[in-house]
Amino acid sequence: MTNRTVEIDLVASEFEWEYLPGQPTRVWGYNRQVPGPTIEANAGDTLVVRLHNQLPEPTTIHWHGLRIPAPMDGTEDTQPTVQPGAVFEYRFVLPDAGTFWYHPHTNETVQLERGLYGALVVRDPHEELVVDEDRTFVLRDVKLDRHAQIAKFGGFGQRHNGRKGNVLLVNGKPQPMQTVRAGQFERWRFINTASGRYFRLTLGGREFRIIGTDGGAIEAPVFATEVSLAPADRIEILAGPFGEGDTVQICDDRTTIAVVEVITRTASRAHIPARLRTIEPIAPFDTEPTRKLKLFAMPSRQVIDFTVNGQAHLHDQPVRLGEVQVWEIVNLTPMHHPFHLHGYFFQVLSVNGKEPPYRSWEDTVDVPPLGRVRIAWKPEDRAGRWMYHCHILEHHAAGMMAHFETVEGSDPDVR
Ligand code: C2O
Ligand code: CU
Repeated sequence: MTNRTVEIDLVASEFEWEYLPGQPTRVWGYNRQVPGPTIEANAGDTLVVRLHNQLPEPTTIHWHGLRIPAPMDGTEDTQPTVQPGAVFEYRFVLPDAGTFWYHPHTNETVQLERGLYGALVVRDPHEELVVDEDRTFVLRDVKLDRHAQIAKFGGFGQRHNGRKGNVLLVNGKPQPMQTVRAGQFERWRFINTASGRYFRLTLGGREFRIIGTDGGAIEAPVFATEVSLAPADRIEILAGPFGEGDTVQICDDRTTIAVVEVITRTASRAHIPARLRTIEPIAPFDTEPTRKLKLFAMPSRQVIDFTVNGQAHLHDQPVRLGEVQVWEIVNLTPMHHPFHLHGYFFQVLSVNGKEPPYRSWEDTVDVPPLGRVRIAWKPEDRAGRWMYHCHILEHHAAGMMAHFETVEGSDPDVR
């Protein structure tokens, strides 16, 4: 299969969108839809996205989870923001198959809540797994006021806990309905794009198989009946086969967020291999950390600041290319923080001292209250400016983030 170039124009603008039937909401979105269009391509393809900013304020697009060159990362550390009326072209090769997403990295707390986010599905043209259908569920919540408009921003509760919506959305609508055919094996991709909400996903108690996480396939399917998705997390599952006439509820805990009706049976052509791929471990699970990050919250002039190693918006030490990083993230607060690293995948070595049940590639991991998570990663290439941060967007904005650089090995200033 030859690699293609996938081109798309994303026009960010203000328009009306019906979250609630008959009650239009003023939103911001890409190509007049919420979420923005799902971008689909194969690993190895070149993606070219022209961002047209027709918003009243500057924006950027961050390609969440992609291992692409730093100048394409879409943060304010790597590019000037795209001004109203301007166009910016993102162009890069898609290195990995998996379920990714895109969103602004400028005024994120407001821009995502207003509707700027979308899915990016990258397929592996050589994978052995064959499914009958492939669906993407973009999860989010939104906080609407009594006029069905985006509720006003700010306040202590929001800065402290992250913004929580009062309407749960799947692909931009509350409780959408889909139909599937009986007897089929489908790949369902879930993306938690919420600012501050965790989802505890179930299929109403039915069993499914986990086949992939943030960075694509895991080594072998794992049976489960529920999975927790922190903000920014993704999961790929194998759902089905369901019986004709069944109704499958996709739930967050006990709340139904989407309904799937099962219609006429068709023969399955699925092929589910026992092994999906091999993931070589980067480091043994009890490797001593090379760096410690302490997540903390403290009172400040803005009422509360969220910090890493005592600093809001830390400038952390550089990382040398080719050197294995073992980071221990220590959560000194009584709340959850989803830790996200830009530009590189990591492996989770342990959560509170315990090895995870299966090996995977991640870019986001939940750090439980007063808990500690050890991750390992190895920056092979792509020297540049990166970030890591809590993906509760209000915590990120309130300081729980750091800027750092990856640098060539010869730099004498690097520890
Ligand atoms: Cu979804 Cu800084 O990222
Ligand atoms: Cu946080």
